Amino acid sequence: PAPGWTTTADVVVIGSGIAGLTAALRIHSALRDRADDDGARVLVVTKDVLSAGSTQWAQGGIAAALGPGDTPEQHLHDTLVAGAGACDVDAVRVLVTEGPEAVQELIDLGTRFDHHDGVLSLTREGGHHRDRIAHAGGDATGAEIQRALIAAVEASSGIEVIQHALALDLLRDAEGRAAGVTLHVIGEGQRDGVGAVRARAVVLASGGMGQVFSQSTNPAVSTGDGMALALRAGARLRDLEFVQFHPTVMYLGPESRGQQPLISEAVRGEGAFLVDFEGNRFLQGQHELADLAPRDVVAKAITRRMLETGRPHMWLDARHLGAEFWERRFPTILATCRSHGVDPVTELIPVAPAQHYASGGVVTDLWGRTDIPGLYATGEVACSGVHGANRLASNSLLEGLVFSRRIAEVLPAELPAWAEPVADPRPTGIVDGELRSELQRIMTERAGVLRSDQGLRAAQAALTGLLTRPVGDVNVTAWETTNVLTLSLALRAGALARQETRGSHWREDHPERDDADFAGHFDIRLLAGEL
Ligand code: SIN
Repeated sequence: PAPGWTTTADVVVIGSGIAGLTAALRIHSALRDRADDDGARVLVVTKDVLSAGSTQWAQGGIAAALGPGDTPEQHLHDTLVAGAGACDVDAVRVLVTEGPEAVQELIDLGTRFDHHDGVLSLTREGGHHRDRIAHAGGDATGAEIQRALIAAVEASSGIEVIQHALALDLLRDAEGRAAGVTLHVIGEGQRDGVGAVRARAVVLASGGMGQVFSQSTNPAVSTGDGMALALRAGARLRDLEFVQFHPTVMYLGPESRGQQPLISEAVRGEGAFLVDFEGNRFLQGQHELADLAPRDVVAKAITRRMLETGRPHMWLDARHLGAEFWERRFPTILATCRSHGVDPVTELIPVAPAQHYASGGVVTDLWGRTDIPGLYATGEVACSGVHGANRLASNSLLEGLVFSRRIAEVLPAELPAWAEPVADPRPTGIVDGELRSELQRIMTERAGVLRSDQGLRAAQAALTGLLTRPVGDVNVTAWETTNVLTLSLALRAGALARQETRGSHWREDHPERDDADFAGHFDIRLLAGEL
């Protein structure tokens, strides 16, 4: 749609979680240090309110080699093992070596991590051989980080925010450089409706795409808007088939849809364990780390046991942690379980895997640059190569933090002079917003935890069938659903092409990892010709 209003900013950041707000703060301060005057303008646009994204839901914490005896080299090793041979080692090295300093900076910014006797408390999660997860408020780490970052942004006079703003499409200049974005804004006064932000650089930090599936730990805003925008603009995406399913999501019944309550891996890190309906500890003997094996191993073991026994979930036993420990260490999870009628101090928690994280995304180099000049990406929307086929627990907040700092190091020197955006002649389609739940059902059944050639081909037929349905209101829900459908088609194409089982990608018809014939990383643009 044609923009009804235009505004300008030197840099526009799309998204307001740890990646977006860190990028905004660091870029703003880097530009201010370079400029003779104080006039650099950084604009953050966010689809809901500043705090609505995935960051504030993060429970377990943020991983970094901060404990005695731990080293970045050991963190590197655990990350590569979890990533199942598909990580970019240089990117992981950046993550783990810059991680400790980046976390220290969060502390300096005012983030109040938990301490014990004056020492930073560190816990363990799946796939980690050391205690290296810093946490806050027990199990409310993301909320505390989000609070500290919002406070810093609000205290910074040069960062402007537009809330309730869905990013639609990338604007580009005659040379193909990013030159801003179009937005659809609701309820923000003069800037209501569709408008354009002209900018000299665009940073995507818009998070993941959990809403591709019927059940996800992600909030409702995670509709893959940044990934879809990048794909439409011709940027390279990869690894979309590596969707991580968190093993222990509270099971609320077969009809429950949308965001589901996460039971942090940190609960297992503190001693909880999984049992089946007969009370068997079925993770024992399956992996040297048993209940703390990497996430894909645990999610697969639960799914297998569910299939073998015909049960819709398994159980997490954390009763022995006791009431005092639960109240102090996991107050949020305790309250959530109780609000759903389960008291984890005395009862088992029903759990099943649900979508949790997109390990793939928009391809970036080690400095957050995508292959469109002037377009950068950081956090879950990006694929920097650190997660490979399966993200190591608590590396996601760290990725957003580390790579946003890196973007701020290079971006100021790469800002071009202002250029006029040119009209994009490509037609853009839209689908009906009401299709969302049908689309999620197709993806959950055919392209979810368990995949096969037959199921993925059936998904394609069903998804393309949705494209022929009549379109009702053209509104935010319709645009979001269009993004969800775009990414569903792309993810399905990657999942069909990857004829092996690796990390979080599980093919029933190709059950082994194929190292001899590792296909590398698929360029989603080439696979998804039908998009
Ligand atoms: C959790 O607390 O289990 C989630 C941590 C993560 O996704 O990294």
